[in-house]
Formats: sequence, C-alpha cells, structure tokens
Amino acid sequence: MFEEAQYFAPVETRDDGSVVVELAKSHPGFADAVYRERRNAIAALALNHTRGEPIPHVDYTAEEHHVWALVTSELAVKHRMYAVREFLAAAERLGLPRDRVPQLQEVGELLAPITGFRYLPAAGLVPLRDFYGVLADGLFHSTQYIRHHSVPFYTPEPDIIHEVIGHASTLASSRFAELYRLAGRAARRVETDEALEFVSKVFWFTLEFGVMWEGAELKAYGAGILSSYGEIEEFRGMDIRPLDLSAMGTTQYDITKYQEVLFAAASLDHLEDVVGAFWDTCDDDAVARLVSAV
Ligand SMILES: [Fe+2]
Repeated sequence: MFEEAQYFAPVETRDDGSVVVELAKSHPGFADAVYRERRNAIAALALNHTRGEPIPHVDYTAEEHHVWALVTSELAVKHRMYAVREFLAAAERLGLPRDRVPQLQEVGELLAPITGFRYLPAAGLVPLRDFYGVLADGLFHSTQYIRHHSVPFYTPEPDIIHEVIGHASTLASSRFAELYRLAGRAARRVETDEALEFVSKVFWFTLEFGVMWEGAELKAYGAGILSSYGEIEEFRGMDIRPLDLSAMGTTQYDITKYQEVLFAAASLDHLEDVVGAFWDTCDDDAVARLVSAV
C-alpha cells in the first residue's frame, strides 16, 4: 500500500459521525449503492479500532468469499510460474484459506508464530511515517475491503487480496520479513520528508514491485506484482534494470498503470546486501548523497 491520495479512496468522517469512502467515478463500484454502503461500514470498523484490541470482524458476504476464492485459485497458478521460490515456500507455510476471505486477526495469528508479524486494520491511506514506522515493530497496516465483484481480476486500489495474498505471504518468509522491519527502522531513523520519500520509493521498487533472477528466469517477489492477475503476466516485458538505490529512490512512478521500469536483484542475497544494508544504516545524509549521485 502506498502513495497516497489517488491510490486510496479518501475516507471522510462527517459531522454526524457517519463514515464515507469517496470512490472515484472510474471505480468499478462507483454506481453500486450496496457496495458503497459496504465500503463505508468496513472503513468505519477500522476507524473505530484501538491499537492493541482484537481486529474488528468483517462479516464477508458469499459474493465476497467467491471473489477471494476465484482470485486466489487463479493467482496460485500464476505464482507457480512467476513467483520466487522464497515466496512459494512462505505462502505454503502460511496456509491462507482458499475458499473464504480470512479475517485480519486470523492472518496475524497465522503469521505471528512464523515471523512475529501481525496486522493492523486501515480504513484507507495511512500516513507514510506511521505505515512504514510500525513495520519496525512487526506490524502491517491493511485494508479490509475487497474489490468490486464485477471485475474480480482488477482493483484500482489496494484491497485485502493485495494486502494478504501479496504481503502476508511475503511476510511469512523470515528473510523478507526482516527486510520489511529494516524498512521500518529506516523510516523511523530519517528525519526529513524527502529522505522518508526516498526510503518509501526504494520499498515501492522492491517489496511492492521487485523482481529477481533465479538462474536465467526472472521471477517476482513484490507484493504488488504477485497480487495482480494482469501485471504478473507482463513484468518480464518491462524495462528491467539492475538494482540501483539512487535510481529506485528518485524514479517517478505512476501508481495507476503497470510499472514500466522494474529493478531486478541478482538474488535474495544481493537484495539483502544492497537494499537491506541501506535500510539498516541510512540516515538523511546518506540519502542526500544518493540523490546527488543521480
Ligand atoms: Fe502494498
């Protein structure tokens, strides 16, 4: 999840206490009053949640469970072709339900014994410092709504399929989970908004949209690719560049389209050596040097 205003539908609390999610006209659920009511109710659950309390239970409908089951089974086929081995092993260890939408509470209970990560509910956009900062504590902010049933293989915004199939599966790998934690520590360490944005862009081009060589084959480990039915078929045809911190931290991207420039690690060791080491030690001065090296 990420870059903000256009990516997440804005959530507003009105004077009478009602919560309204502002879907764009182009959103597949825009003209569906039932879906919009549902989005408002689910957003209100997260807004009323207090950290430390159990995550609010969402009573998913049969239609929503169907969307989850359909997308899960289709993505599983794609993962066998296109996901890195580390992801496949982690997803298997996690053992998410395939026939119904899991509760975030349940996702945390599956993850915690494996890598210590737990989930926090989010109504929509979470400010960057908080979203990244809590990764250092092993916490991951996640939306609870699911995409509109009319287009099950498309979503203009991060939904629970992205947050859980993409991120929770990755977070069940101790090596990837450590990278998330390091990103969180980096976000807490840097002071300027510019440095925080740099750290977040490196996250975008790695843990959201990262690819990696396994022998002669390019595979994906980024949650954004691994949760996108369309993008997972396309990433090998993109402009693939070697890992480069300065370039990743300063390249502009368009969140509304498939990512055209991707950065490939030579291996998981390579990703840890370059990106993990950066997040482990970076401060504002180190980021400024990387920006000026572009
Ligand atoms: Fe994400």
